[in-house]
Amino acid sequence: MPETAYWVDGERAAALPLPDRGLFYGDGLFETLLVVSGRPLLQGLHWQRLQRGMARLGFPEHSLPALEAQLLAACEGSAAEGWHRLRLTVTRGGGEPGYAPAEPAQLRCIISCQPLARDPRIPLPAAELEVAELSWGSQPALAGIKHLNRLEQVLAAREARERGCDDLVVLGQGGDVISTTSANLFLVRDRWLLTPTLEQAGIAGTRRQLILEELGEACGLQAEPVALGPADLAAADELFLCNAVIGLRAVSRLAERRWDDWPVTRQLQAAYAERLDR
Ligand SMILES: Cc1ncc(COP(=O)(O)O)c(C=O)c1O
Repeated sequence: MPETAYWVDGERAAALPLPDRGLFYGDGLFETLLVVSGRPLLQGLHWQRLQRGMARLGFPEHSLPALEAQLLAACEGSAAEGWHRLRLTVTRGGGEPGYAPAEPAQLRCIISCQPLARDPRIPLPAAELEVAELSWGSQPALAGIKHLNRLEQVLAAREARERGCDDLVVLGQGGDVISTTSANLFLVRDRWLLTPTLEQAGIAGTRRQLILEELGEACGLQAEPVALGPADLAAADELFLCNAVIGLRAVSRLAERRWDDWPVTRQLQAAYAERLDR
């Protein structure tokens, strides 16, 4: 395992002060960013989502500059060379026992940073997927944000491992497609890029947003979130998944359906690699 550096509230530390509501109740948010040569990539997209999550949980927004200062110090301090994966976790800190949080919250910032084993500009081999037996619960109040309650993802990742596939397509309670266990999904149909809407469940990924707002158009494609079912995926010309750490990854199989060429996905992967270099 590559060595991981940890910071708590700006100090190098590998232990968490207790109590911490992030641990006790999952009362917090996180972002996983790529860092190259000390520079966090696409920080603006991560910051937009973090800000949305903070507003949703009632975290004081005036804490954002201090969080950014800690992020940048960690990048300079331990990710100055090569590619790193940095996780920034913000919890509501300590307080009295009970779900009701103290007002105003005294946020706690935990950062971990480790070298990345691969160059994220180089796509991973195409993934083989199954449809998960587990489905994501519906919770519109938390949909889209990257909060700390990730037990569903832990269960889904265990299911993927047991089933011996690279990842699973996970549906919502209504049978609609939401995401994979740890990435957003896109399908290609003609010159359209379609990705599930995330009103009831799922995480609105930074790479999903980049594709919707920038990369799709740069590749001459129309990109849009829509309600999608498993049959839409099976009927797609191409399928790919995306997140900050893996980038854009083509799908070679979903259950019985196979794909062996991904011209549009390759075009997007090239645009993405170029975007990371900028
Ligand atoms: C369930 C889930 N959906 C989507 C994403 C994609 O988010 P991002 O593109 O910001 O990495 C992640 C990332 O970990 C995830 O765990």
